[in-house]
Amino acid sequence: MEIEGRRVLVTGASSGIGRETARAFAAAGAEVVAVARRAERLAALVDEFGGMVSVITADLGEPGAAARVAERAGPVDVLVNSAGSETGGTAWAVGDRAEARRMFEVDWWAPLAMIAALVPGMRERRAGAVVNVTSIRQVLAWPSLGHSSAAKAALAQLTSTLRLELPGSGVSAIEVIPGPVDTPALGASTLLPGFVELLDEMLGTGTAAELAGLIVHAVQGDHERVFYPAETVEHAYRHPMELRAAITDAVREGGGLPDDLADTLVVGPDSPITADAKAAWEHAR
Ligand SMILES: NC(=O)c1ccc[n+]([C@@H]2O[C@H](COP(=O)([O-])OP(=O)(O)OC[C@H]3O[C@@H](n4cnc5c(N)ncnc54)[C@H](OP(=O)(O)O)[C@@H]3O)[C@@H](O)[C@H]2O)c1
Repeated sequence: MEIEGRRVLVTGASSGIGRETARAFAAAGAEVVAVARRAERLAALVDEFGGMVSVITADLGEPGAAARVAERAGPVDVLVNSAGSETGGTAWAVGDRAEARRMFEVDWWAPLAMIAALVPGMRERRAGAVVNVTSIRQVLAWPSLGHSSAAKAALAQLTSTLRLELPGSGVSAIEVIPGPVDTPALGASTLLPGFVELLDEMLGTGTAAELAGLIVHAVQGDHERVFYPAETVEHAYRHPMELRAAITDAVREGGGLPDDLADTLVVGPDSPITADAKAAWEHAR
């Protein structure tokens, strides 16, 4: 798809992968609708790109918010679902707590609400793309990451299904599968002992700006998936049992989850501990 002059809605545009993706589409000549909660960060995109970027501030953790955003945005050619939330903690510590339900609202229901609102218009115009940012977490297990892996696995399945529902429509469904990417979300993952280090060792850590360039390229070329960092993450995706075995060994060697973490919500959307870890990560860059 030609990018110039297209209207691109990017969720999570205030930080990390979403922010760099919004910048990359604007630089390629698209009109970008940037969505997130932090207005001042979205305003920085307007300062950088002027009228190429418009802003909708919204909390996608609130049921109904995504549909309202899509209605305000009007016709959209490319939808990028990048907003992501965090929940980390054992299955019994997190259970179905409000924090976990909120994470699913952002990571699962908001992308679906956007798809429901925007894909019919794309089909009518016989042109469009849906880009869902999932994660290599969809194929691996790690203590405390069950909810988060499940949300990403669900969105991955949805994206594959959507692709099968759209042939011949002119609308593509693209899955972006990041391994570790240097953003504040990775800072939150440092609250899970050993996780970031092991993934960095096995997959390497990439940058949001480089991944954003690959996302624009994938929309231009109607690619099905973007793996990043490319070779290691694609290998892990195609041979997940190798990564799973290495993780099992690492968890056994490390003695499992420390007792003090087993009974608490370690990472939660909007928890001050998570916010501090993300801020410290950004501050160190
Ligand atoms: N970084 C990695 O290593 C990595 C690896 C695999 C997958 N991913 C996925 O990549 C996507 C982007 O993450 P990132 O690494 O770029 O993280 P990030 O820098 O922390 O950005 C997360 C974005 O999501 C937005 N967001 C979070 N909760 C929201 C809510 N309730 N309503 C609206 N927006 C919300 C944030 O905006 P506000 O706070 O301003 O609302 C922010 O713009 C996520 O889906 C994440 O799961 C990241």
